[in-house]
Amino acid sequence: MSTLNGKIAVVTGGGSGIGLAIAKRLANEGAHVVITGRRQGVLDEAVAVLGDAATAVVADVSQSSSLDALYASVQRRFGRVDVLVVNAGGGVHAPLGQITEAQIDQQFATNVKGVVLTIQGALSLLTPGSSVVIIGSSASIDPGPTMSIYGGTKAAVRNMMRSWITELKGSGIRINMLSPGPTNTESLRAAFGDKAEEGLAFLHAKSPLARIGEPDEIASVAAFLAGDASSYVNGVELFADGGASQA
Ligand SMILES: NC(=O)c1ccc[n+]([C@@H]2O[C@H](COP(=O)([O-])OP(=O)(O)OC[C@H]3O[C@@H](n4cnc5c(N)ncnc54)[C@H](OP(=O)(O)O)[C@@H]3O)[C@@H](O)[C@H]2O)c1
Repeated sequence: MSTLNGKIAVVTGGGSGIGLAIAKRLANEGAHVVITGRRQGVLDEAVAVLGDAATAVVADVSQSSSLDALYASVQRRFGRVDVLVVNAGGGVHAPLGQITEAQIDQQFATNVKGVVLTIQGALSLLTPGSSVVIIGSSASIDPGPTMSIYGGTKAAVRNMMRSWITELKGSGIRINMLSPGPTNTESLRAAFGDKAEEGLAFLHAKSPLARIGEPDEIASVAAFLAGDASSYVNGVELFADGGASQA
């Protein structure tokens, strides 16, 4: 299948986990993918897997100067962005009473400020017909215990998106949010610390499909939102969580 032939895609946090799976899928569908992240080594390993279909640029989404440099590089090399996957982010578990100021600042800097700056910085490069896919989380509506700050960051962006699609009226740019449920990545396991087995058992028990998701299952939904198959879909939050947040 080559539904994204010749498209230029940017995937933030594309060096690992869900972002890497999305980068692979978009490349398989014919796009050239620019992956970003803060660690050069992680990006180099990802490019070795993705091959000629990928370019890596080190960029921190919480710093506008870093994003300016990313988009200057994309402008120079490719001249436009057709698909923007706003994936960089993450969360930290902490119950009320143990939430630190540093955790709040870090999660809002990446998951909220980073999303705003990533999309705003790309506006002049996004073409009519282009698609922005924000990777949210089912925690936006169903954070469960210990994920209040993370869920709050994802809910905040969902709300902002409602405003952005009206502000972009007439531009031909679509913005949608893809909200995964718990997905099998290293960061999911790491977030549980030494309680990973307990945490995964809880997630399996909660899911109507009795399992967590795989990164490839999120990537296929991202490809749908990125391409013309979703040309009339705009401003939705599409959950890919096996129904866990809907039950
Ligand atoms: N795994 C899940 O269960 C799950 C569920 C729902 C939603 N999500 C969402 O899916 C997205 C990807 O998560 P993941 O599970 O695939 O975790 P991951 O492998 O840790 O991916 C996060 C990526 O974002 C990058 N990143 C983090 N902070 C950044 C920053 N300030 N600037 C630039 N890049 C940054 C990381 O690279 P560097 O560290 O090198 O910068 C990394 O490549 C996140 O938005 C997460 O909230 C994940």
